[in-house]
Amino acid sequence: MTIAKKAQEHIRKLCAKQENIFGMEAYDHHFVSVVRYAKQLAKKTNANKEIVEVSAWLHDVGSVLGDYKNHHITGAKYAGKFLEKNNYPKEKIEAVQHCIMAHRGSKQIPRKTIEAKCLADADAMAHFDQVGSLFSLAMKTHHMSVPEAEKFILAKLQRSYKKLTPRAKKIVAEKYRATKILLKR
Ligand SMILES: [Fe+2]
Ligand SMILES: [Fe+2]
Repeated sequence: MTIAKKAQEHIRKLCAKQENIFGMEAYDHHFVSVVRYAKQLAKKTNANKEIVEVSAWLHDVGSVLGDYKNHHITGAKYAGKFLEKNNYPKEKIEAVQHCIMAHRGSKQIPRKTIEAKCLADADAMAHFDQVGSLFSLAMKTHHMSVPEAEKFILAKLQRSYKKLTPRAKKIVAEKYRATKILLKR
C-alpha cells in the first residue's frame, strides 16, 4: 500500500470515530475535496505529488483529534509520528510537516515550498465544493436564519477566494461565480 493510501485510510478511520465532532462529513466533504485539488495543483506546478497528497490527507488531523485552535501544530506533530511509524524518510516527513504547519490562511506562517502552497490553495478551494456544509455550519451550528446564512457563506467564499494564488483562482472561478449568482439578492 502506498503511503498516501495509508494516510487516507488512517484519516478515514479517525473521522469515523465517535469522538470526532465533525463526523464523517469532514472526510467526505473536506478531506476528499482538498486532496483532489491538491493533486490537480501538484500536477500543474510540478510539485512533489506524494508530499502534496500525504499532506492533504493529514492536514486537519489535529482538528479531527479535537484541537481545532492549534490544529496546524498538533497535526504536524501527529503526522510526524504516524509517518515515522510507517518508515517514511525523515526529509520527506519534514516536508509534509511544513505543509501542515503552514496550511492555515489565518496564521501568518510563510510557505517555503511549492508543496505547501499547493496544500494551502487546495484547503481554501475546497470551500467552493462545500456550500451545503457551509449552510449546515451557519444554520445548525451558528443558528443563523437563511438570509444570514447566505451572507455568511458569500463572505466566507470571498475571503477564501482572495487568499488563492492566481492558478487556483482560475480553477474555482466558475464555481465562485455560480455561487454568487445563486446566493446574492
Ligand atoms: Fe486546517
Ligand atoms: Fe482543511
